[in-house]
Amino acid sequence: MRTIFHISDVHFGPPHLHRVSEGVLEHVERHRPDLVVLSGDLTQRARPEQFREARAFVDRIPVPVVVVPGNHDVPLWRVWERAFDPYGCYKRCFSPELEPVYRDEELLIAGVNTAFGWTFKDGRITMRRLLELAELFEQTPESVFKVVVAHHHLIPPPNFGTQRVLGNAYEAIDLFSSAGVDLILSGHLHQTYVGNSEEFYPKGRPPVVILHAGTTTSNRGRGGERERNTCNWIRVDHEAMVVSHLRWHRDLERFAEHSRHWYPRQERSPYTLEGLGPEPIPAPFP
Ligand SMILES: [Fe+2]
Ligand SMILES: [Fe+2]
Repeated sequence: MRTIFHISDVHFGPPHLHRVSEGVLEHVERHRPDLVVLSGDLTQRARPEQFREARAFVDRIPVPVVVVPGNHDVPLWRVWERAFDPYGCYKRCFSPELEPVYRDEELLIAGVNTAFGWTFKDGRITMRRLLELAELFEQTPESVFKVVVAHHHLIPPPNFGTQRVLGNAYEAIDLFSSAGVDLILSGHLHQTYVGNSEEFYPKGRPPVVILHAGTTTSNRGRGGERERNTCNWIRVDHEAMVVSHLRWHRDLERFAEHSRHWYPRQERSPYTLEGLGPEPIPAPFP
């Protein structure tokens, strides 16, 4: 069994909420996930001091952390940097790695950089990275739970007001669904959502679960998550994946479960026996 704590859009800089990021660290300390995924927008304006604050935050997390950059981690107004050295500050002040890969005997997590200097806001996945991922997935046993992390969204949530998705999203989902990817994690929209690849790209294949985190520690929540801070807690074993959306409760000063979504991993999972429905599962945070 593995547990993944998915946070996103922490936006160090003026919109960052320090009390909530302390709450993230307390949650990690109390519940000890196997690892944390941070799906981009570490900073508000890609400034060195904002990256250093993000680095200090990540360094306080006592489990492995997989991080990818977001569009806010590329300078917006420093045009020369944006054109010629878009990741210089990220690499110098946060990490030299833009597309990290984590693996153990049960889990593979592949980071994808979708933020580029010459795109203003909407990201894209390069064909180069898709070819690398195809090779990586081919070398990975079927039993390993496969996760892709990208800052920008591959499908738009319903009623979000935009149907725009990142460039090469169709090609990426085509590859991921045929390669047996189980889960895609992203952020960017500042609104929680869970759906699947077949909703937008129906191919008659096993659906890839697509999970968006809202902004975990900033005041930039959107839509139904205005003024809210959210993140996801994911538990995986060989029979099922359970996704819990967590919300920050100001009165309790902690994250608590808001909703839970359950996905069988095997056709013969005991959870899916006809007429029985899901087995009761223990609450994630006793
Ligand atoms: Fe963001
Ligand atoms: Fe973003």
